[in-house]
Amino acid sequence: MHLLVTGGCGFIGSNFIQHMLAAHDDLLIVNLDKLTYAGNRRNLAEVEASHLDRRYFFVHGDICDQTLVPELMRQFRFDAVLNFAAESHVDRSINDPFPFITTNVLGTQNLLEAARKAGIPRFVHISTDEVYGSLGPTGQFTEDTPLAPNSPYSASKASSDLLARAYFHTYGLPVIVTRCSNNYGPYQFPEKLIPLTYLMASRNEPIPVYGDGLNVRDWIYVLDHCQGVEAALFRGRPGAVYNFGGDAEKTNLQVVRTILRLTGRDESLISFVADRPGHDRRYAMAFTRSTADLGWTPAYSFEDGMARTLAWYQANAPWLDEVQSGAYRQFMDSWYAERKA
Ligand code: NAD
Ligand code: DAU
Repeated sequence: MHLLVTGGCGFIGSNFIQHMLAAHDDLLIVNLDKLTYAGNRRNLAEVEASHLDRRYFFVHGDICDQTLVPELMRQFRFDAVLNFAAESHVDRSINDPFPFITTNVLGTQNLLEAARKAGIPRFVHISTDEVYGSLGPTGQFTEDTPLAPNSPYSASKASSDLLARAYFHTYGLPVIVTRCSNNYGPYQFPEKLIPLTYLMASRNEPIPVYGDGLNVRDWIYVLDHCQGVEAALFRGRPGAVYNFGGDAEKTNLQVVRTILRLTGRDESLISFVADRPGHDRRYAMAFTRSTADLGWTPAYSFEDGMARTLAWYQANAPWLDEVQSGAYRQFMDSWYAERKA
């Protein structure tokens, strides 16, 4: 089976490629990645060392490239495209929405169009619970919840979901959309809450908590998400949307306190800062369709997933040091300076 994975050098994409190559002997994976600040080819160094000759190929390129993408689809005759590539950080989308529209909307459109013309038999588009907007204190998102995105990031993801839907209905492209809650695990870039908190705690520096710290996210260990995407690839129904969640609703303060406890740090490191504009209050995912149709449920508890995640970061301190390039500092310094002001 020939797979085109986009964004495979990012957090979830690199976990997905490692999982798939370990789980299946008959795969050839082409990873198309632009290597933005969030993409790191070293996330797949072990895969490159072991599979480069026959089962894994890296292509440095942009999903928006209207020459490269059709050419790859012609050359490799893919059985499926899995679109992980995206600008993924909500705060950056507030700071500058343009790259989000370019990659998440136009890039997805370019992939869909090339897949249509090449007659690709399966297209899995990786999306997010954030397209549903924000919940009150009760209830859960289902696949039938109306889309109500609140940030430039989630608006760009909702737009790409709608394009995927349109390509199924108009052209019959066999598209499946997956929507997942907040992931955590190895290789997550330290701009997101969990690795950022670990990084600051390990340095005994203040941990920025937005607003009152009581916003709720539904946390899922990244391997559970990867197995959901795998199940959607093999067993999903074209045209369907599948939700994945971790059954682990936590306030941000609960998450931060867990990391402080597991790293032996004091709660005095918690620093309340100005809230994120338009901050969604609560997410929670119902995933009964994924269980019924795909046989999928999350396997990792929050406690188990967090223990594995922190052990990985502790064992990979050089990775954490390396990804904090000039571009990382530039955004982080100005964003958090504004929050404290
Ligand atoms: P990430 O930011 O860690 O990685 C994104 C990857 O895409 C990087 O390797 C980057 O270089 C690449 N990329 C960006 N623009 C590109 C372009 N124009 N062409 C080719 N490659 C490009 O993101 P992530 O957290 O791994 O998220 C992956 C996907 O999963 C995204 O579509 C995101 O919306 C979705 N998602 C993420 C979460 C989460 O909690 N992180 C939850 C649900 C859904
Ligand atoms: O829900 C799925 C989404 O989860 C994905 O689609 C996104 O790609 C991914 O980035 C993530 O979005 P969030 O905005 O929920 O994740 P983040 O880690 O940025 O923030 C989690 C919560 O923690 C959120 O309520 C904001 C808060 N937060 C975040 C940071 C970075 C803080 O309080 N302080 C911080 O410094």
